[in-house]
Amino acid sequence: MNMQALVQFIRNRVSIKLGLLLLFVFLLILFSLGNILYSLFLTFYLSHVNEELVQRANSHANVLSDHFEPTTIQHVVRMEKGSRNMVVILDQKKQVIASSSPITSLHREYLKASENKQEGETSIEKDWNTKPFLVSYSPVLQNREVAGTVVMFSPTAPIREAVNILQQMLVISGIITVFVVAGILFIISRMLVRPLLEMKKATGEIAQGNYATRLPVRGGDEVAQLAASINHMSDRVRFYQKQRNEFLADVSHELRTPLTYLKGYSEILAHSQREGENAEYAKIIYEQSNRLQRLVQDLFDLARMEQGDFSFRMERFSLEDAVTDALSLVEVSVEEKGLRLEYRPFSTSLYVEGDRQRIGQVLLNVLENARRYTPSGGIIFVRMKCNEHYGIVEIEDTGPGIPEEDIPYIMERLYRVEKSRSQVTGGAGLGLAISKEIIEKHKGTLQVKSVEGEGTTFVIKLPLYN
Ligand SMILES: Nc1ncnc2c1ncn2[C@@H]1O[C@H](COP(=O)(O)OP(=O)(O)OP(=O)(O)O)[C@@H](O)[C@H]1O
Ligand SMILES: [Mg+2]
Repeated sequence: MNMQALVQFIRNRVSIKLGLLLLFVFLLILFSLGNILYSLFLTFYLSHVNEELVQRANSHANVLSDHFEPTTIQHVVRMEKGSRNMVVILDQKKQVIASSSPITSLHREYLKASENKQEGETSIEKDWNTKPFLVSYSPVLQNREVAGTVVMFSPTAPIREAVNILQQMLVISGIITVFVVAGILFIISRMLVRPLLEMKKATGEIAQGNYATRLPVRGGDEVAQLAASINHMSDRVRFYQKQRNEFLADVSHELRTPLTYLKGYSEILAHSQREGENAEYAKIIYEQSNRLQRLVQDLFDLARMEQGDFSFRMERFSLEDAVTDALSLVEVSVEEKGLRLEYRPFSTSLYVEGDRQRIGQVLLNVLENARRYTPSGGIIFVRMKCNEHYGIVEIEDTGPGIPEEDIPYIMERLYRVEKSRSQVTGGAGLGLAISKEIIEKHKGTLQVKSVEGEGTTFVIKLPLYN
């Protein structure tokens, strides 16, 4: 695999990207922590070792200050025999009087250096890294005069060894943590990424039209929520697919009936010789063309509204005016059918903002349904109300009502409760679908309450203009 391909491979994998990023952050933290730990340890350890050495040398020097004589000197030398440290005692002229171990050439250099030291002060050579010894010089004072010097040597090899061990330990634990963390990160990112890969596969299948694909929803985290959303989306797509097919079937069915009439009667008309019957046929043809025209117009409006490219001419108007306009249009046919109309307006004018003509169309659709489905002798009540935010129009009838199981669907396009019943009256089942769409575009609601055998009430709510 060449470099470019490797980069591409990493780019295309969330798990690797995430893992590398976290690993980098972790290494950074580990490195700085290790560094801090290392220098802290070193400072403490070295100051401890130095202090101990100086203290020991000083205490020897103190003892000798009191009794600078051979027995005490021998005693001091014996104390350091067998210890890691070495003590050398010099006289006033920097000549060696006694030492706890044999003096080598290495030691001699330090002893020579002591001649240049400031008289009467303790000092220490602290270079542990490159020199073989830490060396401390303590003066033996008698009556404020320097009578001799106690020189203590402490080998630096054990310090370097300890530091080496510390470094090794830090490096080893660093390597171990890197491996452990890398392993954990790998598992975590796999856990994160595996469902993503499953989703990728599932959405691919849904796109292919395989809507039965289901994603497992494990737990309630974001990934699980996404899986649930995809499942939901798949359901919706399936639903719409089904609806579209049904819709196309319904539309072609609806179009077929009037077209059959048109074709049949125009054929008869073409071959007919009898004048009287011709007018009858022409009338049927006219009615069916009307029905066809309305159906096509409704379908067209509905499609445009659902697509959102239907423009409303918004204006402020009195809801009462719209209601009385609609009432005056149905009044005659309502009375002709033997129905009574009872209208109760609101005490004051209710102003709303919207497309007055479209709202009028909604009122007409609902009133027309009440007239159409209520048998003669019935009553249609029209009441106006309002609450804090909405102007409300209620249209109630004493008709047959709508079966409970049909209520959720009556506002879907082409849905009719009893196909045969409305077929006689000529409805296509689009009126309420269009009305609902119009009202919702006005941020209002269209609700229906119905009890079978008692009647139906439609409630139209529109936001008040303020
Ligand atoms: N007031 C009502 N009483 C009883 N049933 C009703 C009433 N209003 C509507 N329905 C039922 O709801 C169905 C859908 O009504 P909708 O107005 O959408 O269509 P339609 O009246 O059949 O046809 P269109 O309005 O397109 O001419 C009707 O077919 C009818 O079965
Ligand atoms: Mg209708």
